[in-house]
Amino acid sequence: QGTWHEAAALSALNEGEPYGIEIGRHHIALYRVGNEYYATSNICTHAEALLSDGILDGCEIECPLHMGRFDIRTGEALTSPVEIDIRTYPVRVAGDRLEVCLP
Ligand code: FES
Repeated sequence: QGTWHEAAALSALNEGEPYGIEIGRHHIALYRVGNEYYATSNICTHAEALLSDGILDGCEIECPLHMGRFDIRTGEALTSPVEIDIRTYPVRVAGDRLEVCLP
């Protein structure tokens, strides 16, 4: 259940460069890993830093503030100090755009 929204042009999504967007009240980070795309909440669950300012290492995003890590595929909090998972969102490619499904 949810609504699909246009999120970004595929050409804006580069490998290893997290991309932050806002859709309504949702802060979303988009990621490209090879030819796969992922979307998570952009707000770290530790102290609300923007994950899109962090470093993407494979499928792990490292928060820029205290270096906590999350798995962008599942949202799982992986390393201290983060303990609470981040939300993930379904994505799909539509032509040359990426769409994200929001609740
Ligand atoms: Fe992200 Fe502290 S704000 S690890």
